[in-house]
Amino acid sequence: MKPLLSPSMLSADFTNLRKDIQMVNESEADFFHLDIMDGVFVPNISYGMPLIKAIKRIAEKPLDVHLMIVQPERYIPEFKAVGADMLTVHWEACTHLHRTIHQIKDEDMLAGVALNPHTPIAFLEDIIQDLDLVLVMSVNPGFGGQRFIERSLKRIEELKDLIIKNNSNALIEVDGGIGLDTAEDVTAAGADILVAGNAVFGAADPMEVIRRLKEIEIMED
Ligand code: DX5
Ligand code: ZN
Repeated sequence: MKPLLSPSMLSADFTNLRKDIQMVNESEADFFHLDIMDGVFVPNISYGMPLIKAIKRIAEKPLDVHLMIVQPERYIPEFKAVGADMLTVHWEACTHLHRTIHQIKDEDMLAGVALNPHTPIAFLEDIIQDLDLVLVMSVNPGFGGQRFIERSLKRIEELKDLIIKNNSNALIEVDGGIGLDTAEDVTAAGADILVAGNAVFGAADPMEVIRRLKEIEIMED
């Protein structure tokens, strides 16, 4: 089995977004990864609803929306309305995580929880059965182009064990510092979905990087 791939549009060329969207459409990538940052939960502001809506008009693959915002529960129907197919909220930003996850599912989106690099995997124990995906941050969220935190590999393995132990169907998505040099280790540790921003859009031939990332084999256990 091959990993699923979600190119992060944060590193796309915003002056020529149509070209980068078409490249992803024509590539072997599986989703569009859209990073929403509010300048409060993370020290950066990215983009919001109008851009998601515009991307949706020409995207031919599902939109994988990663919310790095406080109180994400305030905007769940709005994200559905602009075209999100998968909606991931941060564990650290949700006081009533169980309710928020079910609000996302009630809107017919896949529901994910993201964990910052310091947040224990074990904190998911009582919610893992309700999740469609868990996003393991392998950098501190807020910026593209950062270096992969090695400790993330142990965390992915721990998460895989937690998922199996609880008979959960959650997929493991890993986000931050992933490229041709790290993708194999991340996949071997148990990742199902790889996010890659800088490695794809910073490359001379983004399609070729996507093709090579999709070539990685996941060993079935
Ligand atoms: C970081 C974002 C990532 C980012 C990944 O906060 O969640 O999705 O765009 O970028 P790279 O792949 O360049 O680390
Ligand atoms: Zn992201």
